[in-house]
Amino acid sequence: MKEYIDEKKIKERVKSLGESITNKYKDKNELTILCVLKGSFIFLADLVREIELDLSIEFIDISSYNGINRGELILNKDISFNVENKNILIVEDIVDSGNTINFIFEHVNEKKPKSVKIATLFFKPEAYNFNMKIAWIGFNISNEFIVGYGLDHNEIHRNKKSIYILEDE
Ligand code: IMP
Ligand code: MG
Repeated sequence: MKEYIDEKKIKERVKSLGESITNKYKDKNELTILCVLKGSFIFLADLVREIELDLSIEFIDISSYNGINRGELILNKDISFNVENKNILIVEDIVDSGNTINFIFEHVNEKKPKSVKIATLFFKPEAYNFNMKIAWIGFNISNEFIVGYGLDHNEIHRNKKSIYILEDE
């Protein structure tokens, strides 16, 4: 495995995303962060500590990958809170084809929130198949499969502090 983005770069970027999100929502009366499990749990934990606002945190668990191949979307745990009239910020680890985030966006939007925006730590512009805009992107990356900082390959490597490119086995 080759190191691709180190711990320090991630930390700096997460801090600046937190500042930008704080500025965007500071005049709103409420903010609900919706964490997309499992991959986003580490990003979420660091990001929310860089947002200087009162906020609530909710979870949805959806999976799509099987090894390094894209698969069918499976909703493992649905939303269990009242979305109506809330400002929802969806926090994703990585947006690849965009299938997952677009599904979640539509799913949330149907429940009449006040607003829905997306923050993703990683974005693969060459793989993205949708027009929907993503408000916060940590890093644009090429079409490579990465692991670490919450991201897995067959459930392994989530606990690595840096981001690595998974090379052919
Ligand atoms: P999408 O639906 O194709 O956009 O895929 C998004 C989901 O697939 C993300 O939430 C990740 O869980 C997973 N994923 C996509 N690319 C990678 C990667 O490079 N490494 C690890 N997981 C990935
Ligand atoms: Mg994910």
